[in-house]
Amino acid sequence: MAPHGEGSGAPVDPMVAQLQKHPISSILIIIAMQTEALPVVNKFQLVENPHTSFPEGVPWVHYHGTYKDIIINLVWPGKDLTLGVDCVGTVSASLVTYASILALQPDLIINAGTAGGFKARGAGIGDVFLVSHVAFHDRRIPIPVFDLYGVGLRQTFSTPNLLKALTLKAGKLSTGDSLDMTPQDEVSITANDATVKDMEGAAVAYVADLLKVPAIFVKAVTDIVDGEKPTAEEFLQNLAAVTAALDEAVAQIVDFISGKCLSEL
Ligand code: ADE
Repeated sequence: MAPHGEGSGAPVDPMVAQLQKHPISSILIIIAMQTEALPVVNKFQLVENPHTSFPEGVPWVHYHGTYKDIIINLVWPGKDLTLGVDCVGTVSASLVTYASILALQPDLIINAGTAGGFKARGAGIGDVFLVSHVAFHDRRIPIPVFDLYGVGLRQTFSTPNLLKALTLKAGKLSTGDSLDMTPQDEVSITANDATVKDMEGAAVAYVADLLKVPAIFVKAVTDIVDGEKPTAEEFLQNLAAVTAALDEAVAQIVDFISGKCLSEL
């Protein structure tokens, strides 16, 4: 994400600067798994939109509603049409982010989900992170400049007041299309200085950046990547409990955002 926040040092597009002066009126929450998404849907009493402008036949699901003065859109990529499991990973995340931005023109994107955490960097089960930077760890292209393109490092939209107001941890996120971690992934994740690892964040950030929509990333730790337990087992064991912490954080963030401009976050 190009940083849009104050003090980022980057020149701010005049149109973005103008938008930052108006209260946020529409947000887009992107969540990859149904287990993570449904509590947010219920919390804000969102309803499914049966008439989306998404192409016919795609599994993507759009829920919407209003909370205080904000239109809340939540898009979940749905279940794979052949296998019936959640469409996790960067391909579906990119597609739904692109289609949802075009359809809904949100002021702000919130990508919320679970992640693996590194205890050596201070992550524990149930911790919720507000992400400062995102990058990929499985796009290795050892040719000058292509290497940087592959890593795709982006600073997220800067929200210092939000970070201060809520009891969230701050850290960097590394994204790849696998739940497990190969030794090569580990080298890249270390190079990315990441505390948490997921399967969507950097892809959402890429599309949000492309279409100039500020995006923030909230990730709750279900498993310790540098721990003793097998990742898949630990992830499934903790998914329900950690999702509750994630959804509570999303609710607090939406509450904080209400009535504020982007520049006040
Ligand atoms: N989501 C939850 N745990 C994860 C992990 N270890 N890697 C990638 N995505 C995750």
